[in-house]
Amino acid sequence: MSDRKHIEDREQLKKLAPVAAAPIKRHVFVCSGKSCAAVGSGEVKAAFEKELERRNLRFGKESKGRNPRGEIVLTDCSSVGFCSIGAAVLVYPDGVWYAQVRAEDVPEIVEKHLENGEIVKRLALIEMDKNNGDR
Ligand code: FES
Repeated sequence: MSDRKHIEDREQLKKLAPVAAAPIKRHVFVCSGKSCAAVGSGEVKAAFEKELERRNLRFGKESKGRNPRGEIVLTDCSSVGFCSIGAAVLVYPDGVWYAQVRAEDVPEIVEKHLENGEIVKRLALIEMDKNNGDR
């Protein structure tokens, strides 16, 4: 068990983890699992980095070309079960799982979904909020 002290002070926590104080609206996960990597998930992630940074939407340190007040967090994730239909991209809190995403699809996802809230239907295979658990 860790002997690390549990921090209660929220302001201290926000100083230690600036993302906790940022106006985050969405979290984009790009699968970096083996099967998605084989169909270009690395390029998909790089395309998100480029598009989000160009539009000043990506949360992160200014020194890395990101925006400390950015609205989008972008991270990798491991396999989510779309292995045969990757690359998988998940957008939360919307609960949208995109399949067969390629780097050239990224500007459309960023502009339509991340900036304007319009799901890119041709790529969206799961919409959790809409389905409410029933498919
Ligand atoms: S490797 Fe990406 S969903 Fe399985």
